[in-house]
Amino acid sequence: MTKPQEYYINLEDKYGAHNYHPLPVVLEKGEGIYVWDTDGKKYFDFLSAYSAVNQGHCHPKIIKALQEQSQILTLTSRAFHNNVLGEYEKFMTDYFGYDKVLPMNTGVEGGETAIKLCRKWAYEVKQVPENQAKILFANGNFWGRTIAAVSSSTDPDSYKGFGPYVPGFELIPYNNLSALEEALNDSNVAGFMVEPIQGEAGVIVPDEGYLKKAAELCKKHNVLFIADEVQTGIARTGKLTCSEHENVKPDILILGKALSGGVFPVSAVLANDEIMLCIKPGEHGSTFGGNPLACKVAMAALQVVKEERLSENAEIMGQVFREKISKIKSPIIEVCRGKGLLNAIVIKPFNHNNQTKTAMDVCLDLRENGLLAKPTHDHIIRFAPPLIIKENELNDACEIIEKTILSYQ
Ligand SMILES: Cc1ncc(COP(=O)(O)O)c(C=O)c1O
Repeated sequence: MTKPQEYYINLEDKYGAHNYHPLPVVLEKGEGIYVWDTDGKKYFDFLSAYSAVNQGHCHPKIIKALQEQSQILTLTSRAFHNNVLGEYEKFMTDYFGYDKVLPMNTGVEGGETAIKLCRKWAYEVKQVPENQAKILFANGNFWGRTIAAVSSSTDPDSYKGFGPYVPGFELIPYNNLSALEEALNDSNVAGFMVEPIQGEAGVIVPDEGYLKKAAELCKKHNVLFIADEVQTGIARTGKLTCSEHENVKPDILILGKALSGGVFPVSAVLANDEIMLCIKPGEHGSTFGGNPLACKVAMAALQVVKEERLSENAEIMGQVFREKISKIKSPIIEVCRGKGLLNAIVIKPFNHNNQTKTAMDVCLDLRENGLLAKPTHDHIIRFAPPLIIKENELNDACEIIEKTILSYQ
């Protein structure tokens, strides 16, 4: 007999740490752009596990790669070579156009790796005095939950109560070139790590030209331009990487999430030899990073991106989405913004039936109507469906959003 959803929610509440605030829905199945709850109700997935499931849930080609390799060899650690890693490294460097790749698992490990690499480069190549290297970050950044990641955060929920913090990080306003230029005058600055669109901050899209100019300024000051494309990468914004919209080739590129199509954690850091070879044997690594299972899964996931033209589809569907949502005449939508299929609406807090409603209330009503999305902060709802979504499906989803929003009038 099926158990009520409260049963699963209560189990998590009783035995799991309370470090998340999920929407009250218990999912048991996913296929393509849809997920099903334990009562059999079907939903559009408009979060895609924070853009990890760009290729759609349980993509048959990715699952096949997982199944096949899982019966042969899953993990060797890097103590030994395996016959898949090199093939994967060649595939990745060809695919993204870099000399070398360093494989890790989670997105935040990708960020940590980029910072270590940048610091090492600063001491060995740029000749920054020992322990003086600085890395710049933008206000509102999010790159995970480790001590280093929260040390560079401006969100009190992320950093408060977790000090002391890692030194050597400096914050500047996002989308502000003069602040960047001023900060770059310090010769100890080694890198600028930035999201081409700030996802967790609420899909904040910088001005056109910001990334290009920021990368040029970094070059001029001999500072590494590090793009955190863990959320924006792998076709999400309508190009393979969001940096490509401005023809920017980051010195260090960080990828994660959809690199495995959401099957399990696979992340990667890409750079050219002058930077990547600064890290020597024994100086960085991970037991699971570059395991043969991950390598096969990631290659399949990236093949799907090309074969199914997901960048192109994200670009076209994104335009359809923003056009449709912008046409909804409602005072509660302040703005709809985004690129490709990474979009968000900003909700003005409003009164309905004598209650103040927030983005979370809207998400609960969207859930009732068959679409799952999650607020970021109190007033922003991100909409990021799998990139395989077709126009008729997107139209149906937009109708749900419209119906929900208009129900408050
Ligand atoms: C831009 C960005 N970087 C890094 C991360 C961290 O990735 P993970 O949760 O896989 O560690 C995230 C997660 O949302 C992210 O959005």
